[in-house]
Order: sequence, then structure tokens, then C-alpha cells
Amino acid sequence: MKFKTIPAHIGVIMDGNGRWAERQGKKRTEGHREGAKAIDRLLDVALEHKIKAVSLYAFSTENWKRPITEVNAIFNLLIEFIDSRLEDIQKKGIRIQHSGNLNKLSTKVKQKINTAVEATKKNKKLTANFCLNYGGQEEILSSFQRLQKDRIHKKISLDKPVSPKEFEKYLYTYPLPPVDLLIRTAGEQRVSNFLLWQIAYAEFFFTNTLWPDFDRDSLEEALHFFESRKRKFGGLS
Ligand code: IPE
Ligand code: IPE
Ligand code: MG
Repeated sequence: MKFKTIPAHIGVIMDGNGRWAERQGKKRTEGHREGAKAIDRLLDVALEHKIKAVSLYAFSTENWKRPITEVNAIFNLLIEFIDSRLEDIQKKGIRIQHSGNLNKLSTKVKQKINTAVEATKKNKKLTANFCLNYGGQEEILSSFQRLQKDRIHKKISLDKPVSPKEFEKYLYTYPLPPVDLLIRTAGEQRVSNFLLWQIAYAEFFFTNTLWPDFDRDSLEEALHFFESRKRKFGGLS
């Protein structure tokens, strides 16, 4: 399939791993494992369509409310994901980025993420931005705080108005462009604290498909939907 317009940056709320597993009488963890395979598929199709960036919501600042066994399983799967795919990701020209607060993560997870980011930093085809311990509200607050600290350090008055352009440099997602298309799977139609600043003018695509079942056709359906939207950005045409 060919598309007339392709989103530069897609945000994906990968929801429904638990339901996928429960429907098959499996443990929730199995759903997360299957979800990791859906990430592989998504990256391959994104490369084919020359999409430049995908932000993947993998663990939110609110997901700590889950049982510790599930939380640990998700982080172990992430470590496994990096260990088993890094070479392939490298070969494909994919750059790994991380968005979120690293402080609360274990040393091992931090090291894995840093290794992956460092190893792939020169890749240019596609950025896979893993949003891990990510919350849109936390990102905005932390960005603003870092901006203020910098201003104090550089002796710039805190009374000077902050422009969106200046502020965006402090976002975890920098230098990624705004999100053009936001996809959420598993039938929920909410944002759940994902990329609140970056989705200001995003098109929203909701599907009942559970994340582990999300495949080429699902992404192409979303791209088809995107191509058919008339974006106005507040203007008239
Ligand atoms: C999304 O799947 C993955 C994470 C939030 C880590 P869920 O685990 O939320 O799956 P459901 O919503 O319970 O089906
Ligand atoms: C959003 O899914 C977070 C991720 C996909 C990582 P949740 O399953 O946590 O969202 P809610 O709780 O249904 O809003
Ligand atoms: Mg969920």
C-alpha cells in the first residue's frame, strides 16, 4: 500500500496486553511478551512507509499502581527486548530514544536503556522512542523546572516570557516533531497521560484490536485514516 501523506511522528498507546492474555487463559505477562512482538512488526512496517518517528507508550507513571510482580515482569521483558533485538535494530538503522523519568528505574534498566540509546545514536532512518516511566504531566513539570534552573544558571530573568519553542527543547521527546497521529488500541478512547503537549494537533485513531494482535493491516488502516483527514491547525483550510 502507498499513501499520499505519511505522519512524521506516530504516538502509540499500546493497550490490551492483559485482556489478550486473559482471553486465552494465559497470564497477563504472556500478553506483554506477545506485545513485544507487535513492536517488532510495527517498526518494520514503519520503516517501509518511511515514517521517521514512533513513540511507544510502554510504562506510565501510573502503572506503578499495578502488582509488583507485573511491574517487574514488564521491566524484565524490556531488558530481554533490548538484549535480543539491539543488533537487528542497529542493522535496520533505527535510533532508540527514551522518554520518561529515569530516576525511579533500577540501575540495570537504566544501563540497558543508556546502552541502547548510545549504540544507536547515529541511526537516521527511524526513531523508536520508548516511553518508560513516562507521564505527560510529569514531563511538563520536569521540563519547566529544568528550564528555570538553566535560566537561573545563565542569569536570565525568570520574568522573561517562555516561548513554546524554548520550552520544547526541555521535553523528553526533543528533538522529535509534534505527534501527527495518535493510535490507541484495545477500544479505550482516552489519553491516559500520554504526550500531552505533543498531541496538541494530532489526529486520533482508536481501534478495538488488542495490542498483541496489531499488525501490518492495522497500521495501514491507521495510515489510511490519517491520509483522509483534513488538518487545519486552527486555520480555515
Ligand atoms: C498495556 O496493556 C501495557 C501496559 C500498560 C504496560 P495492559 O496491561 O494495560 O492491558 P489491559 O488494559 O489490562 O488489557
Ligand atoms: C496506558 O495504558 C499506558 C500504557 C499503554 C503503557 P493503561 O492500561 O495503563 O491505561 P488506563 O489505566 O486504562 O487508562
Ligand atoms: Mg490497559
